[in-house]
Amino acid sequence: MGAVYVFVNQKGGVGKTTSAINLGAYLAGAGKSVLLVDFDSQANLSSGIGVRSARPGVYELLSGTAPLEQVMRKTGIPGLHVIPASIDLSGAAVELIDQKEREYFLKKALGPVRNRYDYIFIDCPPSLGILTLNGLIAADAVLIPMQCEYFAMEGLSLLFKTIRRIQKHLNPALVIGGIFFTMYDQRTRLAQEVVKQVSAYFRDSVFSTIVPRNVRLSEAPSHGLAISQYDPLCSGAKAYQSLAAELIKRGKPVPAAAHPAGAAAPGAGVKERPDHG
Ligand SMILES: Nc1ncnc2c1ncn2[C@@H]1O[C@H](COP(=O)(O)OP(=O)(O)O)[C@@H](O)[C@H]1O
Ligand SMILES: [Mg+2]
Repeated sequence: MGAVYVFVNQKGGVGKTTSAINLGAYLAGAGKSVLLVDFDSQANLSSGIGVRSARPGVYELLSGTAPLEQVMRKTGIPGLHVIPASIDLSGAAVELIDQKEREYFLKKALGPVRNRYDYIFIDCPPSLGILTLNGLIAADAVLIPMQCEYFAMEGLSLLFKTIRRIQKHLNPALVIGGIFFTMYDQRTRLAQEVVKQVSAYFRDSVFSTIVPRNVRLSEAPSHGLAISQYDPLCSGAKAYQSLAAELIKRGKPVPAAAHPAGAAAPGAGVKERPDHG
């Protein structure tokens, strides 16, 4: 049985899309079957993995005008499939507002393929709006990419509050799949300090692999390629390969209720701004 992961951080530009593409590519390379779902109307994931025509895509799927078989595409990587997005998806956010059970559209839409893949990755937009809520309800686990900067923790309290609200009312099985650092620059002491503090706070939730700032990672999507295809020897490629191995090693997400330490959910009581002193 597969697991559904949602990439969430309401900040833009923290590496959600880059991580979904490259983790997906390495998992597929390791023999797993992976479905990427582009759930951002900016459609960076779709173009980043080389999908030219994004219609029909996830919008058509949600609105019931195209079936799953029509919206799932192959990519240049065997075992890696994608449901693309187009700018039409921004309309879905508005249309969903008036619908009954509006938070469950993505979960229902993905239901038939849940068990056809080892991993389903949902790439969310930079907000905690209705699309991200749909992502959090469709998922078994949340993956949170974090940039190593001073305001890294800012906004995390809102994110964890949202996650806890969803765990309580809408998706009790949702777990924190992990937090990982992106765009790390080892030359700055600040980046080292942020990693140290966040790791001390979130402990086991933090992946030990840190993704460095690496220009090759930002070049690859303009060629429609994952880093494993574009430059498999660069530092960014090695990091995502290692992060994928960590994700495999962590195994299937275990719902809090079934977990011995369930009560001590990571992120409980996160402060808006940690003491950086
Ligand atoms: N580790 C990295 N090193 C250098 N550039 C990166 C790295 N990760 C992402 N980028 C670039 O930073 C920008 C934002 O990343 P992206 O994955 O699109 O973030 P998000 O999806 O959270 O908005 C993109 O231009 C991407 O190519
Ligand atoms: Mg993105």
